[in-house]
Amino acid sequence: MHYISLATSFSPNLCVEFAADGGHSPLSALLKLPPPPASSEDDGLDRTTLPLDPTYVYAFTADLVEDLHSLVYEIASSCTAHHASFPAPATPLDPATRVARQPRSFSLPLLPPFLIDQVSNVRQTGQDDVGFVMWPSAVVLALFVALKPALVRGKSVLELGAGCGLTGLVCGAAGAASVVATDFSPLVLANLDLNVRINELADRVSTELLDFYQQSGTSAAGWLSPGSDGPRPPAQVVVAADVICKDSDAGAAARSVFDCLAVGGEAFVVSGTGDHRFGVDLFSGCCKDLDLTIKSEVQTVQQILGLGEHGDVILGCLEQCAGFVDDMTFWFHHIEKRA
Ligand SMILES: C[S@@+](CC[C@H](N)C(=O)[O-])C[C@H]1O[C@@H](n2cnc3c(N)ncnc32)[C@H](O)[C@@H]1O
Repeated sequence: MHYISLATSFSPNLCVEFAADGGHSPLSALLKLPPPPASSEDDGLDRTTLPLDPTYVYAFTADLVEDLHSLVYEIASSCTAHHASFPAPATPLDPATRVARQPRSFSLPLLPPFLIDQVSNVRQTGQDDVGFVMWPSAVVLALFVALKPALVRGKSVLELGAGCGLTGLVCGAAGAASVVATDFSPLVLANLDLNVRINELADRVSTELLDFYQQSGTSAAGWLSPGSDGPRPPAQVVVAADVICKDSDAGAAARSVFDCLAVGGEAFVVSGTGDHRFGVDLFSGCCKDLDLTIKSEVQTVQQILGLGEHGDVILGCLEQCAGFVDDMTFWFHHIEKRA
């Protein structure tokens, strides 16, 4: 019960699934359950009208019934808050839908497992929705940070195009002082918020809207968020995984790195290589045009991470991502913003 209560308070998907699977039925019955008498002596109550078997009712103590009631009310109000009707018609989900709705578990070396919910209740329709799912570069960059936590420990970090947010969450868990995980899609950001809460990192990780195309690439004061009064402060470390989806994104992402990065800071930008990944070859030149110092290499996962004993772990994580292919290579960019 406690687990259901916790899970449904975090996840709209679990609320819908819980209701659709008929989990609401026993809860509805419990909601109607009156407190039992203080003693089992005859109290004049007609137990034949109770919703549950009367002998079953006697087995509950008053405290337990009260605890059950408050848990059930929590679950019911979570479901309502996430717009899952309660009680709802019990239409079982088919197995494929059920699997797609589950948060995925990413177990990275040296850190506790991360639960990552993807946006599975809204259909992905185009390029703007690519943040609905996890991409392999996020795993590579997250692992890179997990294996070298000193890169972020005690520092302010900003993630660009965070999507489901694994990289930013790992920065938070690895000891960053603060992480601002950004994206331009409100739907993606809502899911990201959820992942921050599921992984209990809200004390360190916050989320904000940031559109690459609104950044000038010349600002010393910081970056712009829609609706904010002035520039938001730059961070000591910027991370970005698979954020370049078309040629024009290369320049816009480079301008974003410039505005988001504090002088003396460093950025790590990873993108998958491949014919269908447009714009990624242009990114390095765009950074140089802005006087950012950049070192770029195309590398295998093994070359970036030197995995050794962790090989199977990373393969398991990568296989859960969209667009992963065996022997994939990645652009790995290390960028510095010098005075
Ligand atoms: C391929 S996904 C990668 C998501 C995540 N970093 C990962 O690797 O799993 C690209 C991300 O960039 C975001 N994005 C695309 N265009 C953007 C823009 N103009 N400004 C900010 N974010 C953008 C998308 O919403 C999406 O989350």
